[in-house]
Amino acid sequence: MRFSQVDSGRGCILACSACLDRVQSLPDHMPPIRASQASHHDVGDAVLRGEEMKWLSEDFKNLRAIYCHQLRVMLSAEELIVRALPNMVVRATDEQLRQAFQSHLQETEVHVQRLEQILGEHKRADHSVISTGPEKCKAMTALVAETDDLIIDARDAWVRDAGLIAAAQRVEHYEIASYGTMRQWARVLGENTAAELLDKTLQEEGHADHLLSSIAERINPYAKAA
Ligand SMILES: [Fe+2]
Repeated sequence: MRFSQVDSGRGCILACSACLDRVQSLPDHMPPIRASQASHHDVGDAVLRGEEMKWLSEDFKNLRAIYCHQLRVMLSAEELIVRALPNMVVRATDEQLRQAFQSHLQETEVHVQRLEQILGEHKRADHSVISTGPEKCKAMTALVAETDDLIIDARDAWVRDAGLIAAAQRVEHYEIASYGTMRQWARVLGENTAAELLDKTLQEEGHADHLLSSIAERINPYAKAA
């Protein structure tokens, strides 16, 4: 099999002749790609899907390492939500929904601060920790992109509100799953202060989710009649 180097936009990747044919049929604006342990077919497929892959593989040697990584991923997720919510406030029509998004924006800013606090203390306690900055959350990036599409595609106000609630609840459920896991990991690791902070955030995410469910019960019939 013949292999060739392909400029992926962020570096070169190796592609076999089959992958190369497909990759070279893409437009000039090729999405960035990061390759790690993936096979060349995986890399070629990722280019075609417009996805990013990792240049370098992580090596999570223990629970603490993957816990720290997950904290950084959630820091990225929360920062993405802080940037997305103002537009959701503006595009929501129902006043209660606008207020729910607005108050959750303020809560989310606190969620960012809590994660920064936990990561900061983690670095102070363990000098081998190099970075405590956000690690791009691919899932939240996709969820926010879907929300942006929905805002454009749902022109009726009730339908858009129903869709915004659905989008926000997908975000909440992702966060609830992530914070539930991180709280449990923090407890196992003896990080009691972190576990309490993560629990506070988890409770607030759950409350936001329940509030959205109650607003949806009122709004959905209007969206149905639109
Ligand atoms: Fe949050």
